[in-house]
Amino acid sequence: MILRCLVLLFVSISKEEMLRPCEKLDYTHLATEAEMYKNNILDFLKQPHVRGEYEAMYDCLLSKLLGKASSNRRGSTRRIVSGRNTSITAVPWQVSLREKTYPICGGSVITDIWLLTAAHCLLRAKASELSVRLGSSWKTHGGEMYDVKECSVHPRYVSKTKTNDVGLIRLYSPLRFSARVLPIRLVARGERLPANEPAIVSGWGKLKEGGPSATYLQSSTIKTIAMKLCRRSGLDRKAIDPTSMFCAGSFSQSTPDACQGDSGGPITDKGVLIGVVSWGLGCARGNFPGVYTRLANPVIWDWVHSKISNKSDIYS
Ligand SMILES: *[C@@H]1O[C@H](CO)[C@@H](O)[C@H](O)[C@H]1NC(C)=O
Ligand SMILES: *[C@@H]1O[C@H](CO)[C@@H](O)[C@H](O)[C@H]1NC(C)=O
Repeated sequence: MILRCLVLLFVSISKEEMLRPCEKLDYTHLATEAEMYKNNILDFLKQPHVRGEYEAMYDCLLSKLLGKASSNRRGSTRRIVSGRNTSITAVPWQVSLREKTYPICGGSVITDIWLLTAAHCLLRAKASELSVRLGSSWKTHGGEMYDVKECSVHPRYVSKTKTNDVGLIRLYSPLRFSARVLPIRLVARGERLPANEPAIVSGWGKLKEGGPSATYLQSSTIKTIAMKLCRRSGLDRKAIDPTSMFCAGSFSQSTPDACQGDSGGPITDKGVLIGVVSWGLGCARGNFPGVYTRLANPVIWDWVHSKISNKSDIYS
């Protein structure tokens, strides 16, 4: 009897524990730890307790975006939830990439010195003309601006087809991590991406077709779409390369009520960066899903990791 009571007590406590992080979506604690592991940030992000905390924060944001009615992330979420004002503290890896101060693309912090974006965001300007704003929910002010030391585009990026649409930005000096500036772990190499999985996309992109772009950071939930279905959509099926791209978004919705984030920006699943906003996103129309760079693809993953784990390169 006593044992049973204890068990019940334990169950109710751990339920409380599970609910608590959701009221406070806060990366402060992780940022303090990340600062201590700065020289080994990729290993830090791989630690089980760190992965667990990122996943808990992700679940929290997901349930906020889906609304209280459907807090179960595996539940039915057919309706595309339009973008919501989202503090940078909920997605502290979000980057605003600028060309001569004009915002051109999104991106993600992946180490203390490397940022990830789309290759097509890096083709027009020289590194010296680019800068990034980090740590602000606002597109035009706040946070901190950093100059770009170097840009690299995936050597097998094809601009005509947007195959392997990924690029890296290197900063001059390491970032100071905080609750507003924090890296996100990349998806595992070769990991299969389930279809119909709710994911989160963020950025300052347009909210309505033809409308103005957001001044305050937006995020929304979208669902990954099976390749078979995506190739049957309004997109030219030959244009979708299943090894370096995946689809997500509205598949059958006829009215566009959410255009997702800027090109180059993050799409995350369970607290892990799975893709880069690539193309087809102008404003998702019915039968016209968005196409994302598939970061788990070994051709892409290997290139990114060879660059970001190059120790001899990092503080040179
Ligand atoms: C989102 O933020 C903008 C800028 O502060 C504000 O004008 C707008 O009312 C906010 N929207 C919602 C739904 O809170
Ligand atoms: C690693 O860094 C060194 C030194 O800057 C550079 O010569 C080498 O090409 C880099 N390797 C890769 C794979 O980028």
